[in-house]
Amino acid sequence: MPRFLPTTLRSPRLTLRMLTPSDAASLFAIYRDDETMRYWSCAPWREPVQAVEHITRSEDNYRDGSALQLGVTLRDTGELIGTVTLYAFMRANRRCEIGYLLARPHWGHGYMGEALALLIEHGFEQLELNRIEADLHPANQASAKLLGKLHFRLEGQLRERWLVNGELSGSDIYGLLRSDWRAAGGF
Ligand SMILES: CC(C)(COP(=O)(O)OP(=O)(O)OC[C@H]1O[C@@H](n2cnc3c(N)ncnc32)[C@H](O)[C@@H]1OP(=O)(O)O)[C@@H](O)C(=O)NCCC(=O)NCCS
Repeated sequence: MPRFLPTTLRSPRLTLRMLTPSDAASLFAIYRDDETMRYWSCAPWREPVQAVEHITRSEDNYRDGSALQLGVTLRDTGELIGTVTLYAFMRANRRCEIGYLLARPHWGHGYMGEALALLIEHGFEQLELNRIEADLHPANQASAKLLGKLHFRLEGQLRERWLVNGELSGSDIYGLLRSDWRAAGGF
């Protein structure tokens, strides 16, 4: 399976590109929001330095091939409105996990479906993946609906998998095969 090359992906409304240090303030604004982070695997950020550290980690992960994270930006304005990530690569098995987060003011406009369709296509074609998995908080209905539109299937449930802010939660595990994606003709 290939390592990552410099990656920029474009759809009619969005450009997906690597994060840079100048994104720190925009990223902090997204990840500090309690509502956006309600079902996330860590607590909302409280310090701006967390954004700086996250971007450094994202660059390191890109270089060592452990995760591909892209910022989601609006083509019209260049505004950073979210992130999408392929991570937890098991290259021998051609699989990885997918994660995504969108700034609250931009929910409900179909942006994340558009962004994930680009990333999934990139994963199956350029990265030669065979399977992409998603791990959802069972109460995250918007995310479950979104994955359904992208042809993921609910494959199982894991109990008490996360401990965030003192609260235990389980995971709904979704899977998408390259053959599912091809059979459905994409998004
Ligand atoms: C989940 C998320 C990415 C969805 O992005 P989005 O661009 O708003 O997605 P869409 O506009 O395609 O909306 C998804 C669907 O969920 C529905 N929806 C939105 N909020 C909902 C809610 N609270 N309950 C149930 N359905 C909801 C929408 O109506 C839409 O369905 P429709 O296409 O039939 O109208 C976004 O809400 C988000 O970033 N949330 C916070 C982070 C997060 O939970 N990430 C996923 C972790 S696994």
